[in-house]
Amino acid sequence: MKCILMHKHIPVAGLELDDVSSFIQKIGTVYAPEHLPVGVVYKNDIVDRRALNDWWTERSIPASRSGAREALEKLGLANTRMLLVRCYGLSLSDQYWIRPAGTELQWEDINFFQNDFSDDVGDVLFGADRDANHLDFSSPDNTSDGNLKKRWKIIDGKRYLVKGGSNPFRQQPFNEVIATGIMERLGIAHVPYRLIWNDGAPYSVCEDFVDANTELISAWRILGVRKKNNSKSLYQHFVDCCNVLGIHGAVPFLDRMITLDYILANEDRHFNNFGALRNAETLEWIGMAPVYDSGSSLGYDKVPAQLRSEKDVVCKPFKNHHAGQLKLVTSFDWLDLSRLSDVGELITEVLSDENAADYIDQRRIMAIRDSVQRRIRNLAEFAQSFRSQGELTTADDVKENIAADYGSKMTL
Ligand SMILES: Nc1ncnc2c1ncn2[C@@H]1O[C@H](COP(=O)(O)OP(=O)(O)OP(=O)(O)O)[C@@H](O)[C@H]1O
Ligand SMILES: [Mg+2]
Repeated sequence: MKCILMHKHIPVAGLELDDVSSFIQKIGTVYAPEHLPVGVVYKNDIVDRRALNDWWTERSIPASRSGAREALEKLGLANTRMLLVRCYGLSLSDQYWIRPAGTELQWEDINFFQNDFSDDVGDVLFGADRDANHLDFSSPDNTSDGNLKKRWKIIDGKRYLVKGGSNPFRQQPFNEVIATGIMERLGIAHVPYRLIWNDGAPYSVCEDFVDANTELISAWRILGVRKKNNSKSLYQHFVDCCNVLGIHGAVPFLDRMITLDYILANEDRHFNNFGALRNAETLEWIGMAPVYDSGSSLGYDKVPAQLRSEKDVVCKPFKNHHAGQLKLVTSFDWLDLSRLSDVGELITEVLSDENAADYIDQRRIMAIRDSVQRRIRNLAEFAQSFRSQGELTTADDVKENIAADYGSKMTL
């Protein structure tokens, strides 16, 4: 299939997609190299086809998505990449799409921000039986990322992402609501989530934070704008890439995100779980995106004994341990932990939803509450020591050594 890769109204490059695999086989004329996806190298008039294929594949539903295999069987498709062409590659998180050759399709007429979309693919992803021959595939669900069962819904004209949790505790939707409460109290820019129930199962709902003018560019793509030097830390490389692109505020954003993830013991802050926003037409960077996807935290897949011991807690994206990652924070001046004095009540209230008892019992709630309160106490000590040492000397290297000494005594 011949088509043009479009960025909202702007033709970016001619493409030829393989009809069976949907891979990009050929790249033709490049019309607007500056509009190529971030991190795809264009050098000597040549686009890195492999990198563009990686970007295109990342646009499809991951094969590891809960329920993806069953959905593909119902739809009679070999892989989730086949779904991309059926909705012109349109998404609700950015402004890229493909215009089939020989058509005059316009972004205004087909984009999902301003036009309705079908519920069919979302229904199938949520387990509905549908006749595959009579489905309308125009849906942003074809291009949504992430492992948890999810779908986009239009409610009162607004676009919302509805997302489930994983068995056995289905805790992620509750965690999103608790994370929302914590970020609200700490003044961290965030995407607010609320809880809904559908067929006896919990889901989180959040509004699309991208609109017809903006787009989310993940940290993963930002990292790709420069090759990482072996002597440089991943943290420094990310900050440098933001500086190269002209994205302001990366360091204060990371200070807040790392601190939040410490409190939540977040285990899945990979590089597609944060990013920056830009204007899709002018390519002007707006800044770091509000914090989203904090659900894989609070021991979501652990039993209470593991929650108490905290020894199997995974940490991403910069360090393997939360204590080590916390040392990357450059300032706690913004942090007022007294605002979390009611965090125990917040956690108990969210997890004690009357429908939640099938998934989350009282022992679990207590273990989660205790571990969050323990981590907040650790954090308070760490921030206090960091601040008082900072007052003694402003020399960064001294401050770093003190932070490193202190951090090594911490358990998480
Ligand atoms: N409110 C939103 N507005 C726009 N795009 C969003 C929003 N929430 C999520 N996204 C996009 O959808 C993707 C998948 O959502 P999310 O990360 O919440 O799912 P997940 O299944 O929890 O992911 P993971 O596999 O990381 O656990 C995100 O990486 C982001 O690109
Ligand atoms: Mg995610």
